Formats: sequence, C-alpha cells, structure tokens
Amino acid sequence: MSEQINSGRRKIVAVTAAAGACAGVAAAVPFVAMMLPSEKAKAMGAPVEADISALAPGEMQIIEWRGKPVWIVRRTKEMLESITKSAANVTDPKSEVPQQPDYATNEFRAIKDEFAVLVGVCTHLGCSPQIKAGGSGEMGADWAGGFYCPCHGSKFDYAGRVYKGAPAPINLQVPPYTYLSETKILIGDDKKGA
Ligand code: FES
Repeated sequence: MSEQINSGRRKIVAVTAAAGACAGVAAAVPFVAMMLPSEKAKAMGAPVEADISALAPGEMQIIEWRGKPVWIVRRTKEMLESITKSAANVTDPKSEVPQQPDYATNEFRAIKDEFAVLVGVCTHLGCSPQIKAGGSGEMGADWAGGFYCPCHGSKFDYAGRVYKGAPAPINLQVPPYTYLSETKILIGDDKKGA
C-alpha cells in the first residue's frame, strides 16, 4: 500500500511493517513498503535485520521486533538541532532512567547521531505514537517535531525523550542494536556487530 501525505512543512515517509499497538502507526505519514520478519523469527523473538540503504534523510522505517514496532528515523540536521533545543523541556534530558543500552546513553540516544532506533510504544499505556514534523499546524507553530501519542497526549522529541507534563513517565525505549554494516542494523542483539 502506498500513499503520499504531507505532514506539515516537511514530508515524512514511513516504511512500515508494524502491527501497532492501539493506535497503529503514524496515520499522518505514508506507508510505502512492508518489511516483515519471518514467522520463525517472530516466534522466537529473534533479532531482526533492517536494511537502511534506501532510507533518505527525514524518513522513518518501521520494522517489527518481538511484536512491537521499532522505528528507525534518519534524522536531518534540523531534527538533531531540535533535540538539542528541547533539552530544557523534557523530563529526562540525560537519559538517566535506563531506557536504553549504555552505548545509547548520550544526547541523541543512538550509536550514530543520524539514525534513531526506538521502540515505538508509548511508555504511558502502550499506544503507538505518531511522528509529527515540526511546525505542522496540527501540533502548533511551537512544535519542534518528534512523536505524539494521541491516546492521552504524550509528546516525545526526535530522540524519544518525553516532554515534561506528559502522562508518559519515561523516555521511549531504545532496543539493543548494532550495525552489521553501514546499511544494515541488527535489532535485538548488540553482540554481533561488525
Ligand atoms: S498511551 Fe500514550 S499517552 Fe497514554
């Protein structure tokens, strides 16, 4: 299934396979492909590989790992800048709550700044938030971009850090992952890296 929808100033494209939680995945972004792990991999909770070779700046790819959507967002310079600017407005700017592996305990909560890898499940009651571009009318002119959970209104920045005042108590989870190559990420296992 494929559709093209503009989300605010910047078009965000999602490549998705996720069987989402209650809200599904990012209604405001296009779904352009499906990437599903094998039934065996799903059954075993095995690590899954993501090929990010076609992911352009500003795009999001979603794959399923252990029945959950995992987002891979190739962040633009503007997205990274918005994370830096949002530090004063998020609950846990330094990721002190262990919601990520040690190697992702940094400003951008990632191995490589450019690529966010996040479990797309809200830490409030488990809905699947939606990616929302900065400056979109729907979120207001002050919105810097990030993720919005429509169930009860939690907001997260492009690093998955929850904004103050949200019902979600902690940041989105960063799963264990590693790079198998420049264009392949293994999600669910960080011991097999190149
Ligand atoms: S489940 Fe996301 S805000 Fe409640």
